[in-house]
Amino acid sequence: MDYETLIVEKREAVGIVTLNRPQALNALNSTLLKELRHILTSFSADDSIGAVVITGSPKAFAAGADIKDMQSLDFVDVYLGDFLGGWDEVAASRKPIIAAVSGFALGGGCELAMMCDFIIASDSAKFGQPEITLGIIPGMGGSQRLTRAVGKAKAMDLVLTGRMMDAAEAERAGLVSRIVPQERLMDEALEAASTIAKLSRASVLMAKESINRSFEVSLSEGLRFERRLFQSLFATQDQKEGMVAFVEKRKPAFQNR
Ligand code: HXC
Repeated sequence: MDYETLIVEKREAVGIVTLNRPQALNALNSTLLKELRHILTSFSADDSIGAVVITGSPKAFAAGADIKDMQSLDFVDVYLGDFLGGWDEVAASRKPIIAAVSGFALGGGCELAMMCDFIIASDSAKFGQPEITLGIIPGMGGSQRLTRAVGKAKAMDLVLTGRMMDAAEAERAGLVSRIVPQERLMDEALEAASTIAKLSRASVLMAKESINRSFEVSLSEGLRFERRLFQSLFATQDQKEGMVAFVEKRKPAFQNR
């Protein structure tokens, strides 16, 4: 499929999606959502892909939902049209997704980054939920995922004032896993994705599922869930291979079996 708003590449076992609406600082519109869902579905079904990186441009990861598209919508339009409802699918992707963020990650752009499994930021990254300045509130998880990531105080500060935070503040707050110089951003994200893609697929997917479970259930249920997944991995050949390789002092050759 030819994409109008994305550039899609495969580099070995890593799928790379570059948001590509430079004229609008990668503002998210319905075409972009449709195309992103399409490529993530196709990466999910593609056994040769073990991890995905989503990135934008040096100036903007994404400056939010497209305000020019939204301005004339009324309640019935957005409610009956389930406006932006399909974004849940991004977070539901089973394969790991890294957000490589440079420049603005605002509103829906910050929320898209937070739907990914972790965020690697360039030192120029700026995060914020400025919806309040438009007379609305975050609608793709900003009041929920941001609060879980950075806690109530900073989430309230950001969502109620609409201010931006820089990469250093975002890292201190726990939103971002690493900060790298702008020119290193894609190399760093691709190295991380490639490392993940070479590991045993079942253990990677289960690790992601187990961490995500921690946001949904009590500690005792989460621990039970984790232990069952942990135990189930002993049914895989990759567990044998990983442990035998360690004992034999060699690198494991995982077969995803
Ligand atoms: C549509 C956008 C846009 C957006 C930028 N552009 N953000 N178009 N939707 N979200 C367009 C501008 O109109 C302009 O096009 C071009 O991109 C460059 O932007 P400038 O403003 O000229 O750039 P700059 O002065 O560098 O300022 C960058 C910026 C600013 C600080 C990021 O663009 C900005 O504040 N953007 C809006 C950020 C925002 O409020 N996001 C939240 C959206 S609501 P033209 O053609 O005019 O030159 C949201 C809700 C999600 O995300 C959940 C909904 C359910």
